[in-house]
Amino acid sequence: MTWPPLREELRGIEPYGAPQLDVPVQLNVNENPYGPSPACAADIAAAVATTAATLNRYPDREFTELRTALADYLGHGVTPEQVWAANGSNEVMLQLLQAFGGPGRVALSFAPTYSMYPEYARDSVTEWVVGHRETDFSLDLDHARDLVKEKQPSVVLLPSPNNPTGTALPLDAVTTLCEAAGDGIVVVDEAYGEFRRTGTPSALELLPRHRNLVVSRTMSKAFALAGARVGYLAAAPEICDAIRVVRLPYHLSAVTQATALAALRHAPELLGKVDQLRAERDATVTWLRGRGLLVADSDANFALFGTFRDRHAVWQGLLDRGVLIRETGPDGWLRVSIGTAAEMQTFKEALTQVMEEAER
Ligand SMILES: Cc1ncc(COP(=O)(O)O)c(C=O)c1O
Repeated sequence: MTWPPLREELRGIEPYGAPQLDVPVQLNVNENPYGPSPACAADIAAAVATTAATLNRYPDREFTELRTALADYLGHGVTPEQVWAANGSNEVMLQLLQAFGGPGRVALSFAPTYSMYPEYARDSVTEWVVGHRETDFSLDLDHARDLVKEKQPSVVLLPSPNNPTGTALPLDAVTTLCEAAGDGIVVVDEAYGEFRRTGTPSALELLPRHRNLVVSRTMSKAFALAGARVGYLAAAPEICDAIRVVRLPYHLSAVTQATALAALRHAPELLGKVDQLRAERDATVTWLRGRGLLVADSDANFALFGTFRDRHAVWQGLLDRGVLIRETGPDGWLRVSIGTAAEMQTFKEALTQVMEEAER
């Protein structure tokens, strides 16, 4: 056996992750450019200081206070028993695959989509099936329903808004796929849910109608808390109970719970920044279109734009000017996260230069 004795299918695979480069304008991993305010940071620090004195004890395994606060934040009649949380929504979704996927079972999504989904499937030894999207990146609903009926997945992963395209799902599509999935779980991944344009609904509205619906959220984006690693979901209590079987004991540290609770106390202030970012997003989309580029409609805090004959050259040209974006999505497209107004101005100036150089 080759050393180390890695699983055969993991040999030669690069770990997932965008380059973490130290450049002035970082617009590559859909972070919130605004850190918590001094008041919020002070509240987090005080909560962590209090918790520090109790770190000889394991944390509340059921994170009851946090579940209650998250249920309050979500509204839509969601109760604490319907909430589950973990270290980022990445861990939440891996736990879903560990509980509901596995050998002989299928997980399904529609490409282009979030590149971690096939990794959750691989790591939980679940078969991975991927359908297609329309050219505007919306779901081809007939194809999606037929594929779900044919493959009978035990988990369907539906990001809304989708990463890297920014495309949100209409509620009737969620309903159709929840019905087509039968006893399979349908996860609507709303990591970017708070950035939806006015009039775009949340799948939380559908929770009372479908017992197999799971709505996943994160504090990494709207709550500017990517560094704390807190993701959560809302679903039927039976689903939350099932996840308990696969979670590691005390998986959510006391420091994480205290941090998340403090940030939730500052929700109105943090969500105020979301409104600014939504406006900046819309302005960025309009500006890119004004440059003659294709831009996918976005309900998220990023925009997918293109198409470029040599997207790597554009990406590199921006990086040379201190602006890091993401080379992802279908061939020819690039994704830019929405930063502050000043950061977006630097991005626009750099892109203008890079495109002018390419034309010459
Ligand atoms: C669609 C989608 N879902 C989930 C995540 C995971 O986020 P986190 O683990 O920080 O909650 C991301 C991160 O970028 C994402 O784009």
